[in-house]
Amino acid sequence: MSDLIPFDQRDGFIWQDGKFVEWKEAKVHVLNHGLHYASCVFEGERIYNRKIFKFNEHSTRLHASAKMIGFDIPYSVEELNEAKKAIAEIQNITDGYMRAFAWRGSEKMAISAQQNKIHVAIACWPWPPYYSEEARKTGLKLKFARYKRPSPETAPTASKAAGLYMICTISKHEAECEGYNDALMLDYRGFLAEATGANLFLVMKNGELHTPLPDCFLNGITRLTVIELAKKRGIKVVERHIKPEEFSDAIDAFLTGSAAELTRIGSIENKHNYPTPSQMTLDLMQDYSDLVRA
Ligand SMILES: Cc1ncc(COP(=O)(O)O)c(C=O)c1O
Repeated sequence: MSDLIPFDQRDGFIWQDGKFVEWKEAKVHVLNHGLHYASCVFEGERIYNRKIFKFNEHSTRLHASAKMIGFDIPYSVEELNEAKKAIAEIQNITDGYMRAFAWRGSEKMAISAQQNKIHVAIACWPWPPYYSEEARKTGLKLKFARYKRPSPETAPTASKAAGLYMICTISKHEAECEGYNDALMLDYRGFLAEATGANLFLVMKNGELHTPLPDCFLNGITRLTVIELAKKRGIKVVERHIKPEEFSDAIDAFLTGSAAELTRIGSIENKHNYPTPSQMTLDLMQDYSDLVRA
């Protein structure tokens, strides 16, 4: 299916509130709390070779994200898992992307919406890699974002909540308009945090793999997977607060995410350049690719 077909005009089915609904009929009313007040949490996962990678972890995180923004998902993790498998089968997806999400409905349109119904939907579709072929070949061109990841005292930063993506879209659009592939966000203290939709790793000159401590942003499922893969290879992984200038102590860097998978960084604002992939990055890319298709 072409990526150019708008998402509300595709064929197939979407699982919505317990039923398989015709894709084009999977609608909400314009007056819904999710849209107006960002009462929405979501997951992005990939299907490889007809298997949904880490679907249980994603369903569990959806539940946790919802709890953090004050509601309960009306389907158990097991029910979500079954629904995911069923919709992937109906959509006949071999390799693709899956989006599970939950939002507050329309019963009340005010900040307080304690009794609003919680809706859940799961959609999936064939999907190519997140970054262009050229960007993956040369390594991503990144720009520092204007906005910073907020303090956990300011927002429920561990939740994959739609509201936290407002600054991601602004930052990514600004980066793209200037010819970059994505934006790199610092945290509220000025330490390196993550890209707009993926975690960050630095391959250090001393042979260690360093990654920012996820104390104010998503501790990605891919991030955790890559840490495990690195440890299996005997690589020392260090999670810590990293200053932006420490890119100079790295020989290579990459992003991780369900959408981004493992994608190498080629340059950061022309201040830091990583023209050649390190063997560690190549090995971990291979390990990840082997694991998701195992
Ligand atoms: C802001 C942000 N950080 C990190 C990640 C990586 O998370 P995961 O590996 O669980 O997909 C994502 C993608 O979901 C994201 O949107």
